[in-house]
Amino acid sequence: MIVPVITIDGPTASGKGTVAHRVAKHLGFHYLDSGALYRLTALSAIRQNIALDNEDALAAIARVLPCLFVKGHVFLNGEDVTDAVRAEEIGVAASKIAVLPTVRQALVDLQVGFRASPGLVADGRDMGTVIFPDATQKVYLTASVDARANRRYKQLIEKGFSANMEDLVKDLTERDARDISRTSAPLKPAPGAYVLDTSQLTVNESVYVVLDLYAKALKLSSN
Ligand code: DC
Repeated sequence: MIVPVITIDGPTASGKGTVAHRVAKHLGFHYLDSGALYRLTALSAIRQNIALDNEDALAAIARVLPCLFVKGHVFLNGEDVTDAVRAEEIGVAASKIAVLPTVRQALVDLQVGFRASPGLVADGRDMGTVIFPDATQKVYLTASVDARANRRYKQLIEKGFSANMEDLVKDLTERDARDISRTSAPLKPAPGAYVLDTSQLTVNESVYVVLDLYAKALKLSSN
């Protein structure tokens, strides 16, 4: 039997992480935060003083990334780096290394390996386009730059990081441009993806829409 996958792709701070996590919890599915893999690779590189354009060295790190995900915590080489990987500069570094095709290729098997029974919710940029093109339901979650900057601001402040709205809008805009314009697996809705703009939606409403789409997709596939 084919293990079902729900892909939730979209730009930075579109709320896909929260929505994907809640959908996975509701269905009892596994959860893949693919952005964390790019962030872990970037964090590991920065700690080893490896330049963010040294494609071969970065791919070598990604290929054997010693990562572990346990109950919402992220470990690198046994160290809990949950907060460290969420830092804004690591997100920016992740976006820079994510343009490199060899780095992306090096992370493919690791991502595909998350597909396990009873199902997977995969969150990222290319989950529906590249990693799980046969997903049961594909969703592209988006929101206006202002709505996303606002959400990111609240997240950072809650976690005790400092944040500045103007810088956040600039970072988000630059990161969107990099994610969308790269030649390798650019950010775009997968063929057949349902595009959901969450600017005016609560997390609960977004979760409900995704669950409803999935239920309908399952029904269609069993007919
Ligand atoms: O979702 P995130 O902010 O944690 O992702 C960090 C960066 O990683 C993002 O700017 C682009 C990259 N990324 C990617 O290229 N492909 C993915 N599937 C996930 C993330």
